[in-house]
Amino acid sequence: MEGATIYILTFLAPLVIIYIVLVAWSRRRSDQRSLPGPSLVEGVKVFLKGSYTSKLHLYLPDLARRYGELVRVNVVLRDIVFVNDALVFRHLVRDKTFRELTNDRPSTFMRTFCFYNGQDMVLADLSQQQRQLRKIFHLLLKFYGEGIGKFEELMTRTLGELTRDLKNKEHSELSTSLKTYIRNIVGYLLTGGDTEIARTTLGKIDVFNDLVNNSLLFENESILQFFPFVRFVPGTRFKRMANALLAARDDLHETCFYAMKKTYAVGERRGIVDDMIAMQEEARGKGGEFELSDEMIKAVIQDIIVAAYLTTASTLSSLFLQIISKPEIQTKMYQEIHSVIGDGQPSFNHRQQMPYTEAVILETLRYSSIVSFLVPHLVREDIHYDDCVISKGTMLVMNGWYSHHRADKWGDPDVFRPERFLDSSGQLHDPDHPVRLNMIPFGSGYRSCPGETFAKSRAFLVVTTLLKNFEFLPPENGTVLPPSDPCLWPSTAVRCPDNYFAKVVLRDTN
Ligand code: HEM
Repeated sequence: MEGATIYILTFLAPLVIIYIVLVAWSRRRSDQRSLPGPSLVEGVKVFLKGSYTSKLHLYLPDLARRYGELVRVNVVLRDIVFVNDALVFRHLVRDKTFRELTNDRPSTFMRTFCFYNGQDMVLADLSQQQRQLRKIFHLLLKFYGEGIGKFEELMTRTLGELTRDLKNKEHSELSTSLKTYIRNIVGYLLTGGDTEIARTTLGKIDVFNDLVNNSLLFENESILQFFPFVRFVPGTRFKRMANALLAARDDLHETCFYAMKKTYAVGERRGIVDDMIAMQEEARGKGGEFELSDEMIKAVIQDIIVAAYLTTASTLSSLFLQIISKPEIQTKMYQEIHSVIGDGQPSFNHRQQMPYTEAVILETLRYSSIVSFLVPHLVREDIHYDDCVISKGTMLVMNGWYSHHRADKWGDPDVFRPERFLDSSGQLHDPDHPVRLNMIPFGSGYRSCPGETFAKSRAFLVVTTLLKNFEFLPPENGTVLPPSDPCLWPSTAVRCPDNYFAKVVLRDTN
């Protein structure tokens, strides 16, 4: 099989190279005032090196230093413009001159094959349908996030289970426990929580999510997008990946959508899936009203799983890894918890009084930059920026990793130092302080992350609840912590340290 693959690729290679040269040549002639960037050969070389190692974010800073805030890289069939500065990105996606033209998404393998041709929210172009889905999503998230009784009780119970589980262990595989906790919340948010359907769905979420996380890696996506045929080439990882992904998706919907729909009862609100089915039923037949199709509901379910689960779990896993490696930070957090919350139960209302804990969460988002390139945007029509043209069809990619690790903006970007977000009296800098404006972990504008508040408040609740009860120390069971430097973590679309154990010590106050 590998022989056949090599044969096909060898046969196709000359054709592809001729095609690349022709496309690049035609662009050079038609687009004289384009942004600065490397030559075609250098650009492709950087891209291939980054794709091969799956660490493209580590190869781009050099281009950023040489070419500035916007770097145009010509990669085969398309220009990619990497944006290296958070302020410039905000301007490009929010300013009214540009915002209707810079907020589409590129057509990707994932969107076409796995997300029903962009019937969702995350991967769809900016359109009436996308805006409508986003509005619905905001409403639902507000409803559940702010807590209806049943759901809030479920959340408290789930966090209680995690705490009890840790109490029974001297050593815990902490990262896995955190991941399971977030997975359960997302599953329950969708399907309720006390039913067989909900329980069966949880395992399927894991399978689907892991496959998406690998396939969505910018480098894998790009290969599949520029060379879609590789998905059909026998023996390649791309074919295996695509087949497994579609099978996992359909299996997920057997329970998460079809079983929910079959057992749906008017007036019952088991979770977000029921809410969407209810909206679908209500709008049916009433011409003119926005009607959710089955595919839209399934695609939004996938959105929620992909966007909410690994991002939040990885943020928590990264945060605990940092504070286990740096006990002085953990001690300061505990002191703040002790003085503000005391014997009480942590709640969202404590956030404003706990700037140090908030600063640790922000520093985790900066330092780990778990979604290096955010979610790519697409330019709908030519736009003129700074005397240059960014052509229609260009992929606009915010290089979040670089922006969060620029020495000229952060001074010591490779040091985990929450104090950078605090003023001299220990209060959190305002959101419009220059330090905060350099942060862009959740994107900006029309396509910014609608789950930002939900993610931050969940992280706050988990961190404060666990630190109030336990001290977390490096393991003494023969395992070691993974490196705390995110450059050394495995390459996945949402970057996360390897699983790790921690020694768990119950605090005296219990
Ligand atoms: C630490 C956790 C999270 C991080 C770092 C994160 C990051 C992001 C980023 C970078 C984007 C793309 C922004 C852009 O295109 O400019 C995004 C979009 C999105 N996120 Fe999040 N996210 C997190 C948690 C969540 C959660 C908890 C939810 C849902 C409950 C969620 C739902 C979404 C959705 C639906 C979109 C697509 C919005 C659109 O395209 O219009 N995210 N997120």
